[in-house]
Amino acid sequence: MKRNKSWLHRQQKDPYVKTAKKQNYRSRAVYKLQEIDVKDRLFQPGMFVLDLGAAPGGWCQYAAKKIKPGGKVIAIDRLQMEAISGVEFILGDILDTETIKHCLSLTDDKAFDLVISDIAPDLTGIRDTDEARIEELAISVIETTSRVIKSGGDLLIKTFEGSLSGTLKSELSSKFQKVTVRKPKASRDSSREFYMLARGYGI
Ligand SMILES: C[S@@+](CC[C@H](N)C(=O)[O-])C[C@H]1O[C@@H](n2cnc3c(N)ncnc32)[C@H](O)[C@@H]1O
Repeated sequence: MKRNKSWLHRQQKDPYVKTAKKQNYRSRAVYKLQEIDVKDRLFQPGMFVLDLGAAPGGWCQYAAKKIKPGGKVIAIDRLQMEAISGVEFILGDILDTETIKHCLSLTDDKAFDLVISDIAPDLTGIRDTDEARIEELAISVIETTSRVIKSGGDLLIKTFEGSLSGTLKSELSSKFQKVTVRKPKASRDSSREFYMLARGYGI
């Protein structure tokens, strides 16, 4: 992937990047998940977890540790990801129905306790195009979650500030018992991203 000079400079200075290297995590994104987990206790041993938009795999590494013993992580990304022990990886686009069929073929119906989605579309800087891409992915994450999640299960979904976030919150509130907003410290202030944690599917 092509990166510019200021991106490189920011990475070199970033304390989360340094800690991730030391702790053998593949991405600084892991600290966003960790912070939310410490606050909200997302994981339990034995859980089935689906990670959408998983590459390069920081969230998977964290989830695979937290659900031991007995749990399972299935991870999907349209980019290839190096193998992680305890994680089954599917190379595919979540917008493609074949990818979701593949995922469903690996588990029983409604098997997942938790879906985590750090999916980010390629943003163009053109507001309407970006909002359409964010919406398309969010709809797909929610549809996929509805197909695979157990009653009472949870969804953590990344989204972006903008006119769609209110609609997303209402949509999640209609399907889950409780929806909260999280902006972990590891998520840069300059980034419009934040997370919604929807708990208690179908309750
Ligand atoms: C911010 S990264 C995820 C980082 C990951 N949570 C980690 O800890 O390493 C977002 C990922 O979403 C993936 N992605 C974006 N759109 C996708 C789609 N339609 N289907 C599958 N993966 C997608 C990208 O390829 C990228 O790897």
